[in-house]
Amino acid sequence: MAPPRIQILNVQPEVDCGRFPVKACPGDTVHIGATIFRDGYDKLCAIVRFRPTGARRWREATLEATGNDRFETTVTPDALGPWEFRIQAWVDPYASWLDEYDRKVAAGQAEGREIVTIEGLRHDDELHPVQQAFVEAGAIQCGFCTPGLVVAAHDLLERSEHPSDPEIREALAGNLCRCTGYEKILDAVHLAADRLSNPGTR
Ligand code: FES
Repeated sequence: MAPPRIQILNVQPEVDCGRFPVKACPGDTVHIGATIFRDGYDKLCAIVRFRPTGARRWREATLEATGNDRFETTVTPDALGPWEFRIQAWVDPYASWLDEYDRKVAAGQAEGREIVTIEGLRHDDELHPVQQAFVEAGAIQCGFCTPGLVVAAHDLLERSEHPSDPEIREALAGNLCRCTGYEKILDAVHLAADRLSNPGTR
């Protein structure tokens, strides 16, 4: 079986390679850490889930990246008896995108370019016609996807007054969500195109 893409190694605390439990008193601060990495440049998120052994609910704490693939946090057991913990990690797409964006800005790739964010589309208290069209067409995805789709649709309509369905699909292909069939999103882009080419219509 192929090894997992994300590796979680050197978990601490640990006594004698896990042969003996770590000991602490209720109220003590316990430092938890691990070396976590994967291939590629994606940014990772990690949490530790911990609970008194046998308890139904896990508690969670976020592990902070401290450099060199090391992630650490502290937890405070508040009851006597054995406790257990697990470390989980996953790729954080938003942090990966931000990191890539920061690198492009630092490298001067944004030099002289105009950057429009979802907030920048709104004028005073008025939604931009593209935003309004998404609302009216019910083209709502999650909080990550909707802003990306709206700014991508806005960019497309700046370049093409009445794009075809294939052109819209291509322009929105950078949004990797496949949660819905995108039909309402196509409706929203066509509606926005109509509104922008005939500002008087509703
Ligand atoms: S709606 Fe955002 S990931 Fe699917």
